[in-house]
Amino acid sequence: MNNRFCNRLAFLVCLSVCLSTVALAENNQKQDFPWMNKNLSPDERAELVLKQMTLDEKIELLHGNGMAHSENWQMPLTYLANGGAGYVVGVKRLGIPPIWMSDAAYGVRMSAANGRYSTALPSNLGSAASWDPQAACEYGTLIGRELRAQGYNMTLGGGTNITREPRNGRTFEYMGEDPILSGTLVGNRIKCEQAQHVIGDIKHYAVNDQESGRNEVNSIINERALHETDLLAFKIGIDIANPGAVMCSYNAVNGDFACENKYLLTDVLKQNWKFAGFVVSDWGGTHSTLKASAAGLDNEEPLDHFFGPRLKKAVEAGQVPMSQIDDHARRVLRSEFASGIVDYPIKKSVADVEGGLEIARTIEEQSIVLLKNSNNLLPLDRSKVRSIAIIGHNADTGMISGGGSAQVDPPGSTAPAWLAHVWFPTSPLKAVRAMAPSANVKFDSGTNLAAAAALAKSSDVAIIFAHQWISEGMDLPSLSLPDNQDALIAAVAAANPKTIVALETGTVVTMPWIDKVSGVLEVWFAGSKGADAVANVLFGEVNPSAKLPITFPLSEKDLPHTTVTQPPTKGRGPEDESVLTAPTFDVHYDEGLKVGYKWYDAEKKPVLFPFGFGLSYTSYGYSNLKVASGEDTTVTFTVKNTGGRAGQEIAQVYAALPADAGEPPKRLVGWSKVQLNPGESKDVTVSIPAIYLSIYDERSHGWKLVPGSYTFMAGGSASDLPLKQSVSVN
Ligand code: BGC
Repeated sequence: MNNRFCNRLAFLVCLSVCLSTVALAENNQKQDFPWMNKNLSPDERAELVLKQMTLDEKIELLHGNGMAHSENWQMPLTYLANGGAGYVVGVKRLGIPPIWMSDAAYGVRMSAANGRYSTALPSNLGSAASWDPQAACEYGTLIGRELRAQGYNMTLGGGTNITREPRNGRTFEYMGEDPILSGTLVGNRIKCEQAQHVIGDIKHYAVNDQESGRNEVNSIINERALHETDLLAFKIGIDIANPGAVMCSYNAVNGDFACENKYLLTDVLKQNWKFAGFVVSDWGGTHSTLKASAAGLDNEEPLDHFFGPRLKKAVEAGQVPMSQIDDHARRVLRSEFASGIVDYPIKKSVADVEGGLEIARTIEEQSIVLLKNSNNLLPLDRSKVRSIAIIGHNADTGMISGGGSAQVDPPGSTAPAWLAHVWFPTSPLKAVRAMAPSANVKFDSGTNLAAAAALAKSSDVAIIFAHQWISEGMDLPSLSLPDNQDALIAAVAAANPKTIVALETGTVVTMPWIDKVSGVLEVWFAGSKGADAVANVLFGEVNPSAKLPITFPLSEKDLPHTTVTQPPTKGRGPEDESVLTAPTFDVHYDEGLKVGYKWYDAEKKPVLFPFGFGLSYTSYGYSNLKVASGEDTTVTFTVKNTGGRAGQEIAQVYAALPADAGEPPKRLVGWSKVQLNPGESKDVTVSIPAIYLSIYDERSHGWKLVPGSYTFMAGGSASDLPLKQSVSVN
């Protein structure tokens, strides 16, 4: 070895020792900070850090630093955003990590642009059809794991706006029309997501029920309806999960933009509900500095337009008290501690692809709703069926997914353009061929109606995969299947009545052909393993158990609003909003309490498929209802599997409140998913907390039980409730 080489080697060894000593010292020092003591509560830890922070450091926690992959929303530090939608720098000198936020509605967003992999779960609406808090927990766990694997420590998923307007392009991101079902499921999802040490988020708070003019619309709703419907879903979700963040929505509610709405953010969320986390604005949803900060917005995303230098100046000018800044910063810090992102720093890893696909499949199997099954055509008997026609656009290669910021990118794809229709490589044709290897399975795209009908005619069974794509940023003009698919289904069914329709939809659709087909499966946006799950149901490997979380109306004419109200001009994008100080048009939610099935019930409008409906390959009987009132009301009854297959029944309990309460005819108050072998009976107990039986009283601004007679009903859907008993509450 020559001398120069020895010297260089010595230098490098010394440098690496020195660097590791510095790193170790920094690390040790971090561990020595009093707020690193895990035995202290998140509040205590946050308070200790806050005391050490300068105004600049506090302000840093209150805004984003741009959005990766967005042309308009760039800032000097956006390159550190790890490819995500939002980035908050943290306080390095005090050991407080940055917050790396990613959208993750049904899986982690932007995998293609970031060169990563994400599992697509079934859409949120689809998964709500499982009515299963455990499945919701698995959903959240998987997303939490994949977020961390990709280097994120905060999710922007957790949509729970109840469906007032089924043409809303984001209906697939939400969990249906009932606040108790939606809140329970989103709460369980977020709880388990956060258990993976990511900051959870529930959104879009509140009454963000249409995409048309979403940045300028004013949702007008009375206080009682607001609390009993839209807000109740958030309240339940927040009570279950304690999410680290609530995302305020783009729209205004009763005059004030949601992200500067003191009533929503401070009076209700922080004071009444005692929400301890932080409020993050929807992207570009902040409209002011003083008003928004005073109203309770804590973190502006994705820029620092209002909560950066302007906020600092306002503090220095005495326009914003330091206590207000402290409250904002304390909330961000608290969520960092409560979620564990301080104690469990991010280490990127390889996602468990196989494990994720398995979960996506099993959740989809629990989410597929069997809507029609004439003459028990399903399940198909693979030893008997000789020929099958698979018909539908792309049914040979993939299944459609939901767009917008929820979009998950399929493996093998490049980053899709905004509003592109994205198909996942899960092929119905291949899945059916694998399931029925001895049958002759042929494909037709359905472009030519006569050709599709001819193939159906020459086959034992025809299965049509029909789709309806929806996305953030648009509402549907109608609930009809697009692209002539109604005509396709009618033509195929006329050629072969043994026609089964699998609906890949993001919301409800009308079915003018319903009497002509033998079978209908609602498979939603079915996720990465959708085709296998559908094949498992078609061939009886899985007995369907899911029930609709949303009513399918007979026609758009039956909806509370016959059309979606449009903005006065062409509509503004989020980037325009900084100059908008007031909403430009109103939508009156004057159907009030009557959302979803409550509307059709009250208005006595017949529906295509009711809320809570779903068939099985077996049948169930209900008997023996008993109601006991106490702190919680307890409803007990027996469910029996009266058919020949094992199955799971989602047994539902509804309550009709006393006439004086002025409520729609009934509301869902609980349910239980019961696993039953053929002939087996089980006693089911459903506990109903008092708030689920209460009304929101506008005079006292609180919940109250109305004295009188309550009727409890149990059964298999909102329209099939064979058990009934009334009890008096004084
Ligand atoms: C959406 C949010 C999303 C955010 C960040 C907004 O356009 O409304 O749901 O989390 O963008 O991508």
